[in-house]
Amino acid sequence: MPLKACAAALLLCALPFSALAADPQKGKIAFEKNGCWQCHGYVGQGGAAGKPLAPKPMPLEAFNVFVRNSNGPMPPYPKEILSDADLADIHAYLTSIPAPKDYKSIPLLNQ
Ligand code: HEC
Repeated sequence: MPLKACAAALLLCALPFSALAADPQKGKIAFEKNGCWQCHGYVGQGGAAGKPLAPKPMPLEAFNVFVRNSNGPMPPYPKEILSDADLADIHAYLTSIPAPKDYKSIPLLNQ
């Protein structure tokens, strides 16, 4: 019985933890592996075909819904192709990309 309780406690603690552990490093790899960059640019800056995704991507929930269900010019990515974990990592990667500097803070551009 103590062993069982212990295992249950471990599971309860481990579950939310793994859900939180989206990893921007892995997300960068998944972003490249799944071809998001082809339309959205290497750092999600947007390109000829795709909108900018970074900095400040839409909230994770809306992001997931869009990527899974897109029926416009972007192909939808079902779970069999792109796992929830990979998608959360991609979102974490996009969130980690810093905003570009305001041009007003660059002296050479303000002469
Ligand atoms: C074939 C080109 C293409 C690829 C590959 C692609 N996208 Fe897109 N994506 C688009 C286009 C075009 C839009 C705008 C679609 C629209 O408004 O319906 C878009 C829109 C989005 C949006 C919504 C952005 C917004 O602000 O409305 C998200 C999020 C997104 N893409 C994420 C991804 C992710 C993550 C991947 C890789 C798993 C990916 N895309 C791969 C072309 C692409």
